[in-house]
Amino acid sequence: MSELQEKYPNNRLRRTRQSQWIRNLVSENSLSTNDLIWPIFICEGSNVKDEIDSMPGVYRYSVDRLNEVVDQALLNKISLIALFPSTPKEKKDSLGSEALSPDNLICSALKKIKEKKVELGIMCDVALDPYTSHGHDGILSEDNQILNDETNKILVKQSLLLAEHHADIIAPSDMMDGRIGLIRNNLEDKGFKNTILLSYSAKYASGFYGPFRDAVGSLDNLISDKKTYQMDYANSDEALREVAIDIAEGADIIMVKPGISYLDVIHRIKSEYNFPTFAYQVSGEYAMVKAAARNNWIEEEKIIIEQLTSFKRAGANAILSYFAIDAAKIINSSN
Ligand code: PBG
Repeated sequence: MSELQEKYPNNRLRRTRQSQWIRNLVSENSLSTNDLIWPIFICEGSNVKDEIDSMPGVYRYSVDRLNEVVDQALLNKISLIALFPSTPKEKKDSLGSEALSPDNLICSALKKIKEKKVELGIMCDVALDPYTSHGHDGILSEDNQILNDETNKILVKQSLLLAEHHADIIAPSDMMDGRIGLIRNNLEDKGFKNTILLSYSAKYASGFYGPFRDAVGSLDNLISDKKTYQMDYANSDEALREVAIDIAEGADIIMVKPGISYLDVIHRIKSEYNFPTFAYQVSGEYAMVKAAARNNWIEEEKIIIEQLTSFKRAGANAILSYFAIDAAKIINSSN
């Protein structure tokens, strides 16, 4: 900048802040319903809509109640939902076998929603933690190490099962090495050329996942932390390596998780690769905002929009958030 430009009073940044219309015109980022992905928990039973204690306003739905979810999504102009199962304890085992059952909660939910033939994308997680008795994303050796290559074989089968049930986006969140390439090769071999692969490339070993583990029932049985596969939150160079590898292996979209504490990681990835980059505002982040709002310590609606907009500013293309419907309602009512 020239010396003249830097000088007050010629330069008064407050000129473009003086009214809403000019603030709108110079605004660099905005949040729309196209940016929102709504996570949904599925449980067994019939006519169940069960609120999760640590996530007020978030529910587990039985498959027969999913019409309500689809209607809400469409009404509020949400274009993608992400499904997570709350598997009953008796169906969990050390290999996560239920993940490969064509009658499991996610396959049943896919059948139910896809028969409606609506314009709504469905994303499904690939990982074993909702199905394993020990709560880990992979299978264990005799001395409780998480086995990478053996787990990958199961993840490939889980991915093919989801693709067969018409999942639009398959999202490995397990953090095993090499799974993106293996899943992509197998999808191509079996003719699933249009299945979108979203890799949770930069998924950190985080304290923010507590309420989710409660929601899917993997909290009580988790036998140890996930630091041997999820990333160390002190690192971001490593996130760039993860992303580079996943892009090379055939990912279409990458995800950073958790969200607000990792905006720098989103920004670095987006600046480095210019690749579709999503972010996950996780359960602990949701629970913190809810708890503060319930005490009237913050204004919930303002915080929701401010946080989600900051993801856009950091470079995220879309955000997976338990606030998706609340945010959509706020956005739609201001249009
Ligand atoms: C694991 C998985 C986790 C979440 C979604 N899938 C985390 C974990 O238990 O390690 C957490 C999401 C959230 O906290 O909202 N496959």
